[in-house]
Amino acid sequence: MCGIVGYIGTQAAAPLVLAGLQRLEYRGYDSAGIAVLHEAGEIVTERAVGKLLYLAARLELAPLSGHIGIGHTRWATHGGVTEENAHPHLGMNGEVAVVHNGIIENYASLRRELQAEGVTFTSETDTEVVAQLVERELAQSGDLAASVRAALLRIEGASSFVFISTRQPDRIVVARLGNAGGIVIGLGDRETFIASDIPAILKHTRKIIFLENRQLAVVRSDKIALSTLSGAPLEPEIHAISWDPVAAEKGAYRHFMQKEIAEQPRAITDTIRGRVNFSSNRVHLETLPLTVAEARELEKITIVACGTSYHAGLVGKFMLENLAEVPVEVDYGSEFRYRRPLVGKNNVVLAITQSGETVDTLAAMEEGKRQGAKLWSIVNVLGSQAQRSSDGYILMHAGPEIGVASTKAFTASLVDLYLLALQLGTQRGVLQGERLEEAIAALARLPQLAGQVAEEVEIYHRLAEIFYTRDHFLYLGRGPNYPIALEGALKLKEISYIHAEGYPAGEMKHGPIALIDRMMPVVAVATRDGVYEKMISQIEQVKARGGIVIALVEQGDELAAAKADYVMEVPGTTPFLAPILNTIPLQWLSYAIAVRRGADVDQPRNLAKSVTVE
Ligand code: F6R
Repeated sequence: MCGIVGYIGTQAAAPLVLAGLQRLEYRGYDSAGIAVLHEAGEIVTERAVGKLLYLAARLELAPLSGHIGIGHTRWATHGGVTEENAHPHLGMNGEVAVVHNGIIENYASLRRELQAEGVTFTSETDTEVVAQLVERELAQSGDLAASVRAALLRIEGASSFVFISTRQPDRIVVARLGNAGGIVIGLGDRETFIASDIPAILKHTRKIIFLENRQLAVVRSDKIALSTLSGAPLEPEIHAISWDPVAAEKGAYRHFMQKEIAEQPRAITDTIRGRVNFSSNRVHLETLPLTVAEARELEKITIVACGTSYHAGLVGKFMLENLAEVPVEVDYGSEFRYRRPLVGKNNVVLAITQSGETVDTLAAMEEGKRQGAKLWSIVNVLGSQAQRSSDGYILMHAGPEIGVASTKAFTASLVDLYLLALQLGTQRGVLQGERLEEAIAALARLPQLAGQVAEEVEIYHRLAEIFYTRDHFLYLGRGPNYPIALEGALKLKEISYIHAEGYPAGEMKHGPIALIDRMMPVVAVATRDGVYEKMISQIEQVKARGGIVIALVEQGDELAAAKADYVMEVPGTTPFLAPILNTIPLQWLSYAIAVRRGADVDQPRNLAKSVTVE
């Protein structure tokens, strides 16, 4: 959600913090701010409502000087979008500044308690309570880390915090309570960086320490003292990050989303690379240790995920049940722990999460673990909470995904699910011989086919020109393409603010068919698979009621093309891999429509990447 950056070292802090925030703006973008420990011994802040460019403009007019700084991009939870509510927040005496990601659940009672003691508040946020609490403790102890420890004992809810103080102007204190989004500490040469996401600091360092739940770090320019929240010292584990910093830049593209759609053939190739032996038809997922006996004993997989990742899970169900013959349930992370999920021994809870930090998905994993299930995850961010808390994981290898609307991580997670289905299917002895050979051969062709689809863009801009003023869209699919219809509709609504619904085509006649008229385009995913004929008859039903059909068909399918008003084409592949190819045109279509409507494609209103609040 909110983006956090911190710097301590020999360089001017504010420009580095601002540059880091610019790489994190996808996280939250309703307001932003920076606080710097000024040489004169005071904390100076600059905050602005709106996107970072407003903060940048203010900093240009009135630069902040100092070598220790913290910054924040906000996604509002408590208190409206105002300058007063933007972070950093200061204690009443200006001795402590804090930036925060998460929610302080008991902030109202703490606020009343502090007000009764005469503390005055300048914002409506939950965060300011922490600044005031730490400042109150600091008056007693004089030590920032000790004051943070004492203050956090009073706090309920998951949060990450970064503090600076005038009392100890040689340090930043970072603390984490629960799963409210990660915090990483990056080690440089006599300088140290802090960020909520690795891309913010990748340009400066690849040596990273992950702050775990209930840990606190006292960060200086040349040393880190890591401890538990209760004060027991810990040895930091330093991870080397291999991501290419250029991958997190927009380059020649107009939007990150555009770049990330176009990157999918590469992401698919990287996700397959090194995991498949194409001569022996073997799949080996090194980071998912599983014996043949365990694979055979596996009774059920429960996939937990949110949003786009949930749609990937629905496709995964189709792959895993067909290729590995293992029963699969798919649940929203936000629902799973609030019903009575029946999972236990010989069950796996499989989380799908690009960021690895989505709080609802993490909570569902915890619930799965509590009930005795094994935890697996499919994640894009190595070192994320989901990956670290899993017994086994499969990386997406999509590279940093910056556009708020997920694209390349979706198709990469489908590739991971396919690989998992192949490995499990062979281990369970249900996928072999010609069927296995065909499944592997189709995978070998996939990157090249995805390349063909990703390159073709003209048609989507033509369709956008025709349809960009419509208020409603319906997306239809069946079987593994029903989740693709859901995903197509989600992409359209989130970036262009057009109301769109995804529906299983066979359910149309049970209600939604009443909506059909000339003003509501129907996007029908109708590539050739076991339910192709049924899809064709559903297209006919729409046409018979005067509907306008944009059909996604296999190249050369004249029958389907003849039934539709407009056609988008993809090359043929197997029913298990078709959802991957079929996704790309729907992403391009949403992108083209959003661009035509002049929408903010990479940072749609009200949204943020990495949803770290419930
Ligand atoms: C939609 C989108 C979201 C995410 C969801 C889960 O384009 O990006 O729906 O898919 O917030 O995020 P992760 O996969 O990071 O858990």
